[in-house]
Amino acid sequence: MPTSDTIDNEAKVPAYTLPALLTLENGAPVVDPQTWYTQRRAELLRLFETEVYGKMPGALGSERSEITSIDETALHGQATRKEITIHFTASPDGPKLHLLIYLPNRRSSPVATFLGLNFNGNHAVHLDPGITLSSQWMRNNEANGVFDHRATEASRGTEASRWPVEQILARGYGLATAYYGDLDPDYDDGFQNGVQPLFYQAGQTRPAADEWGAIGAWAWGLRRALDYLETDAAINAQQVAVIGHSRLGKAALWAGAQDERFAMTISNDSGCGGAAIFRRCFGETVAVINERFPHWFCANFKHYNDQEAALPIDQHMLLGLLAPRPVYVASAAEDLWADPRGEFLAAYHATPVYQLLDTAGLPATEMPGLNQPVMGSIGYHIRPGVHDVTLYDWARFMDFADRHFR
Ligand code: GCU
Repeated sequence: MPTSDTIDNEAKVPAYTLPALLTLENGAPVVDPQTWYTQRRAELLRLFETEVYGKMPGALGSERSEITSIDETALHGQATRKEITIHFTASPDGPKLHLLIYLPNRRSSPVATFLGLNFNGNHAVHLDPGITLSSQWMRNNEANGVFDHRATEASRGTEASRWPVEQILARGYGLATAYYGDLDPDYDDGFQNGVQPLFYQAGQTRPAADEWGAIGAWAWGLRRALDYLETDAAINAQQVAVIGHSRLGKAALWAGAQDERFAMTISNDSGCGGAAIFRRCFGETVAVINERFPHWFCANFKHYNDQEAALPIDQHMLLGLLAPRPVYVASAAEDLWADPRGEFLAAYHATPVYQLLDTAGLPATEMPGLNQPVMGSIGYHIRPGVHDVTLYDWARFMDFADRHFR
């Protein structure tokens, strides 16, 4: 990661004007909820689709879910663990999503549930030996026990510090997670693997310039996971919080923006293309992210390399698309690459639409100090430390969920 004072120096942030959240393209102000819902929201969604993440198709219609394991005595009896395979097509070799679900056994009604993709496979979120080892492509990583692009027994639990499963269950929440590489392996292969080819028209070999990339595919998969959660009587599908860290935080935000069934959205250190304001050009920029990850966004997004001011949107508008549903943005003080202040400012500048829809938005006008969370219908905290998901982060996400779901 480049670290020069051009990327982490507040004094180098250019002067910028954010595009107006509550002004229609025809120049008229948005002064009532109806105009927001019927006109402005649609305009903004279209801009994010065509210029940033690419259009995302709906469900194929051929999806079919299969429960592959259930253990009602998992984690020393604390939990019921279920594994579900969501087959996207009739072909057993086609892409499919392996969903891992933990439900607290101490429950008297359907539970509110956190849904998020993981980086290293379901077997990495906990040492629980009952979790099926992923056989999907993974980036080689000796420390994580991944060799020849496949996980091994040594990969179990390697992402566990980011998934405090017992604490989530103890607070009465369910957890559903899946490996992001099930949807689109995270490397640039010209969109030959992953779910995109399932949607190609005859003769099409890659998404059009305004069609989805990998972030779109990950977000699409979160929506398909929610389709399954809606069918599971143990889960309160009206209270599903979509959560993601970093690139998967970008995907969580895009899923929440697209799909109003998500009752809450949680972004952890999502940075550039996530919660951070593009126009600050602080930390990661559009040119840098497109160069390093050419497969994440739609091809049109490359027009904005070094042209942030030309973007018709900025990320306060992405958060605005979540309104009035609660959204939480978390930053880490040493994670300058993700621009903590830019993440705070997007939350702050999304507040007018939350207020238009009669909710508080972010109850802060200044960036709070370390470990001083602020929570309205928008929540925000910055904690000490590096780019990661910690128990502190999760504890605040659960406080926020308690506030809105209980
Ligand atoms: C890189 C990338 C970020 C991304 C992060 C991650 O640092 O530049 O945009 O959020 O990886 O996913 O961990």
